This record gives sequence, C-alpha cells and structure tokens, in this order.
Amino acid sequence: MSERVVYFNGNFVPECEARVSIFDSALMFGDMAFEVTRTYNRKPFGLKEHINRLYGSLRLMEIDCGLNPNEMERLTLETLERNLPTEDSDMDWQIMHDVSRGPLEVYRSAFSEGIHSTVSINCWPLITHMGGFAPNYSTGVHVVVPAQQTLSAYLVDPKAKTRSRLHYQMAILQAKRMGPGRWPVLLDSDGYLSEGPGWNIFLVKNGVLLTPEPRNILLGVSRNTTLALAKKLDIPVRETNLGRYEALLADEIFCTATTYALCHAVSFEGQTIGNGQTGPVFKRLMQGWQDYVGVDFVNQAHSYAERLPAWEAAQK
Ligand SMILES: Cc1ncc(COP(=O)(O)O)c(C=O)c1O
Repeated sequence: MSERVVYFNGNFVPECEARVSIFDSALMFGDMAFEVTRTYNRKPFGLKEHINRLYGSLRLMEIDCGLNPNEMERLTLETLERNLPTEDSDMDWQIMHDVSRGPLEVYRSAFSEGIHSTVSINCWPLITHMGGFAPNYSTGVHVVVPAQQTLSAYLVDPKAKTRSRLHYQMAILQAKRMGPGRWPVLLDSDGYLSEGPGWNIFLVKNGVLLTPEPRNILLGVSRNTTLALAKKLDIPVRETNLGRYEALLADEIFCTATTYALCHAVSFEGQTIGNGQTGPVFKRLMQGWQDYVGVDFVNQAHSYAERLPAWEAAQK
C-alpha cells in the first residue's frame, strides 16, 4: 500500500484517508479551483506561477482558503519533502492542489468541527502519467475539432482553473469517437481555436510561432515558458486569433502542458501537418525546454514506460 501522505485541511494524512465530503461544494457545483505542477529533478517547476494562478482562480470564485500564498508554497514543499522518500531518487512528481469552498451550509450539522474550505495538496509519482504518455513523443498526436465548444470568458472565465470541466470531458469523448489518439481542440463561440482539455495549442507558419491570444483560454504555465523560450531563441511570436484555416495551413502544430511540456501534432482534422514529423521550430523549442529544466524528459518518459508494469505490480 502507498506510504504517500496528503496535506488535507491542516493535517498530513495517509493518501487513502484524504476524503472530500459528498456534501462538498466541489461535488455539488464543480466549485473547486485546482493546479497541477510537476517537478524536474524533484524540484517543483514554476511553483510560484502555479500558486499565483491558483489564487487568481480563488479570487474569481470568491473562495477564501484560509492560507496565504506563502503558506501554500511552504505546505506544498513540505508535502513534497514528505513524499520524496517513498520513491527512487530518479522519480519526478506531479503536485496537485485542490481547493473548494467546502461543504454546503445546509449540511453544517453533519460537521461537528464546523465547515470551512477544503484544501488538499497531493503528490503522485510521474511514472504513471509519463510512462503512459511516452509513445506520443515519438508518434505525435492527431488534433481534431469536436462539436463541443469552449466556455467563453463572458460565461465562466477559463483563466480560472476549475473542476467545472464537463465541456472538456464531452470534447474528449467526442474526439475518442473520431478515432484512437485524437486530441480535441475546442473552438470558442467565434469559431477561433481556444485550447485542448488540458493543453494550449501553438502553430508555426513561415517560422513565426502563433498561439491564440489570451482571451478564451487558460494561461498555461507551459505556454508562458514556451513563449519566453521562443523569445530567447529569437523565434518570432504572435498571439492572435487563429481558426481552422490557419491550423490547416500551418507548417507545424504542437501542444503544451505541465506534465509533458510539449508534444507535436502530426495531423489536424485528418490532414497531415508539414511532413508529419517534428518541425524545426518544435525541435529548437524541445531542446530549449530540456536545457532549461535540466532533464531529458523524453528519455525519462520512455524509461518510466519500461518500469511502469513492475512499479504498478509493486503497489498492490
Ligand atoms: C484547459 C487547460 N488549458 C491549458 C492547460 C495547460 O496549462 P499548464 O501549462 O499550466 O499545465 C491546462 C492544464 O491542465 C488546462 O487544463
């Protein structure tokens, strides 16, 4: 059984004991902000950025979690420290923050200690996520446009990262029906590309890196990192409205997200992008990322893939 511990409402408890109530507003409304951070060489990457985004989400949602950002950072580092010894020293980690308003007032009599926000910080070894993901680095992914649109900022601003994610789930289901390995990019109500259910999208046209302007999207930490690296590498960048047309004519398309950093697309809506291989701008950015974080995370993912069956067997 796992020896991992979770920070949960003021205490460190075994992972299996960290339970959110069925009366929690998270379950009732999807009323929960969250963050996913990863480590490189067991050090959290962009933790301050993730915590700032978490507090931005909480502000929008009018949730007071009872901790300030410095306390949240300190508790995050302590949660990680407590979990590191449970794995080999070459294991990197996912760190997840989940914060809700807590149980609904009407059920307060079920909570003798009173009701308050729900705060949890957990750490999970990246072997499962990245071991499973590894083949995508070689094969690339197929990006499709599902019927499901994104929520525009005037409805619920996607800059807040919340657990209210049914529209992403619908997009994933619709993409799955289009074929294996299909990744959905949701359009906004104007027909422009927004983002995938857990990633931001980039196109490259004539050497210029293009990405949707920050309107109807989550401002991904990996998106920011990619834009900063592109500037450092003298790759011209433009944040703009992009439609299906621009994607179909792109020389390169790729996706960015915390766990895998970046991954190229081989097709868009069934049409091959470029020559179906990784393009020159992507290659430079991939190298730039690996230099910046100090980990060859592609090799790492392949190594996790090999070790995953034994790791999973040992968990039982
Ligand atoms: C909707 C959405 N867009 C983009 C991203 C990528 O953000 P980041 O690079 O911070 O992981 C995520 C991450 O989970 C997401 O949920």
